[in-house]
Amino acid sequence: MSLSSQPDPAKLAAARAAVALVEDGMKLGLGTGSTASVMVRELAARAAAEGLKLRCAATSQATADLAESLGLKVEPLDQIGWLDLTIDGADEVDPDLHLIKGGGGAHLREKIVAAASDRMVVIADPGKVVDRLGAFPLPVEVLQFGFETTRTLIRRALQTLDLGGHDVMQRLKGSDPWVTDEGNVILDLHLAAIPDVVGLARALSAIPGVVEHGLFLSMCDLAIIGKSDGTVVELDGDEGIDADLLAGEGD
Ligand code: 5RP
Repeated sequence: MSLSSQPDPAKLAAARAAVALVEDGMKLGLGTGSTASVMVRELAARAAAEGLKLRCAATSQATADLAESLGLKVEPLDQIGWLDLTIDGADEVDPDLHLIKGGGGAHLREKIVAAASDRMVVIADPGKVVDRLGAFPLPVEVLQFGFETTRTLIRRALQTLDLGGHDVMQRLKGSDPWVTDEGNVILDLHLAAIPDVVGLARALSAIPGVVEHGLFLSMCDLAIIGKSDGTVVELDGDEGIDADLLAGEGD
């Protein structure tokens, strides 16, 4: 939300289009971040206006708190079981709908919730649409135990993928380590570009201290990109991405 507490028009357009996909009785996954927060507000308003019965699993404590404060029913994921639809934001979206997520530090729960959903819909503004992932630093959630060892192993893995020499920075909150909802810490990989997303995802997942990385490959079914004029563009991964979107229209 901006200082005037009016949501960004592009985020609002994407959020509204995604909320329009929700049907009465659905079991929903709620994402995390500023775009997801706009969506939660829109969802709560629609649910209240139409008397929709929804069951929601949240991807972070912050989202759970917001959703509950707006009257949405939030339950533990395991209590709900399988979800019909998850709506979440992203830090980058490529033409194949591969994503970088975790800018808000919630990608572990976000990935678990998305994996437990029939459908994952991403909502974003045009600034998130890229032709290749990697300009946004890739978040990797790691255990606190053996943290420096894990960082060394990540650096070695990057070397073997010809990505050596890039910064692997611990995320901080002020001068303290950023700690996730699960009590882990985050390393942000400043790679500039990721030529082989599958290879990097596999290499990171093979490192014992890595809990989860922010590459979401083949998980997103639809990306709804809101534009500053209030319209949306839907990307389903089958068609290329319009040059206007790649230029970050409206930003
Ligand atoms: C949180 C996320 C968010 O979805 C991502 O950071 C986008 O956030 P925003 O909508 O605020 O730009 O992955 O872990």
